[in-house]
Amino acid sequence: MNEISVNHLLGIQNLTEKDFDLIFNTASQFKEVINRPIKKVPSLRDLTIANLFFENSTRTKLSFELAEKRLSADVINFSTSQSSIKKGETLVDTVNNILAMKVDMIVIRHPHAGSAKFLSQNVNSQIINAGDGAHEHPTQALLDCFSLRERLGDLKGKHIAIIGDIIHSRVAISNIFALKALGAEVMICGPKSLLPKYAESMGVNVEIDLIKALRWCDAVNMLRVQNERMNINYFPSTREYSKLYGLTNEKIQSIRKPITILHPGPINRGVEITSEVADSENAIILDQVENGVAIRMAVIYLLASKIKNISSA
Ligand code: CP
Repeated sequence: MNEISVNHLLGIQNLTEKDFDLIFNTASQFKEVINRPIKKVPSLRDLTIANLFFENSTRTKLSFELAEKRLSADVINFSTSQSSIKKGETLVDTVNNILAMKVDMIVIRHPHAGSAKFLSQNVNSQIINAGDGAHEHPTQALLDCFSLRERLGDLKGKHIAIIGDIIHSRVAISNIFALKALGAEVMICGPKSLLPKYAESMGVNVEIDLIKALRWCDAVNMLRVQNERMNINYFPSTREYSKLYGLTNEKIQSIRKPITILHPGPINRGVEITSEVADSENAIILDQVENGVAIRMAVIYLLASKIKNISSA
């Protein structure tokens, strides 16, 4: 049966090989839909989804909202700044009150690792993790892999390097799980202070020299330095970081081969990547954003299919 194996999307590790195929195939169909003059399907007319964002977001929040609207779901949005969380209400009470208004599915971004799983265990609703602290960002990894497959084909045996602030990055963790599940070889690269000590136990190659990482890889995923998650200095200065780990045309030209360039956004131009590189034809950063809508449509549709009787995609 064409059914996703999970009831919630909390992280990448719970997904089976069949789930990846199902998500990517469904996303391909939805990508066609969102490129038509009429970008909507009526599939989720009977579904109401609440997007709860306890942390800032541009791409993920808008992408989920558009995905839900393209599927004809009813959508409500919630952000902490305007909510009663400030008056001391717990997360579970807040969500149970939202669910009492006949909401069917919750999308949550939260600064605390494990918050999506905690909710899935304590409220009666399907939960999608839109990023929980430095833990996981599963839809980002799915859209990154989907975009890479469009450029590189099957990822089995492909070399993918993830560069920068790995230790604070939910994008890195979810990408490592997803890329390895799809058969890719993964390398992480950055200053030692930004590489987690447990990295090798995740089965990835570890490198501190950016040029060596670039020589090794078919594609590179450049990460932003997450200053908002740092309470100490992890490197002497942004200028030095940029000199050693910023991706520039000169560095790419020095390895004498084309590589595909990803970035989950938001970009700090001139820090981890120059404008020239971010806007170059090997960069697929805006493809990632476009594919994000299709991937989120697929995830929502497949999860909703488990609780509602809905028409095919
Ligand atoms: N990639 C990503 O999660 O971006 P936002 O923080 O803007 O959602």
